[in-house]
Amino acid sequence: MITRLDHVAIAVPDLEAAIRRFSEDLGIALEGREDVEAASTSTAFFPIPGTRIELVHPLRGQGPIAKYLETKGGGMHHLCFETDDIDADMARLKSLGYRFLSEKATPGAHGARVAFLHPKGTDGVLIELSEHPHA
Ligand code: CO
Repeated sequence: MITRLDHVAIAVPDLEAAIRRFSEDLGIALEGREDVEAASTSTAFFPIPGTRIELVHPLRGQGPIAKYLETKGGGMHHLCFETDDIDADMARLKSLGYRFLSEKATPGAHGARVAFLHPKGTDGVLIELSEHPHA
């Protein structure tokens, strides 16, 4: 079941400049950075009550974010909803005809398991589902 808006992700061509923009110009404190090998992304997180802004940049110039930046430049990349059971939500949405970019959930930042709905089925909006590790 989807429980909350986990983050809004913005693809940025210059990660350092974007981190300065959010922390210094917009005044939102940087929580941390993480390179996610499985997604080929270098990320930075800015918590704001109830959710976070996530800046995403290609790790070593490779992967899907590199392609996105090539064709579109920077921009709003995806929304992420937290779920308490990603396998159940994927199965339910597949049964409704939705497609995912991967057959199964894959490793995301913060040890989460994530999956992306194909944007063709969601009015062009890339939607990520994320199940956080359970304590
Ligand atoms: Co994300």
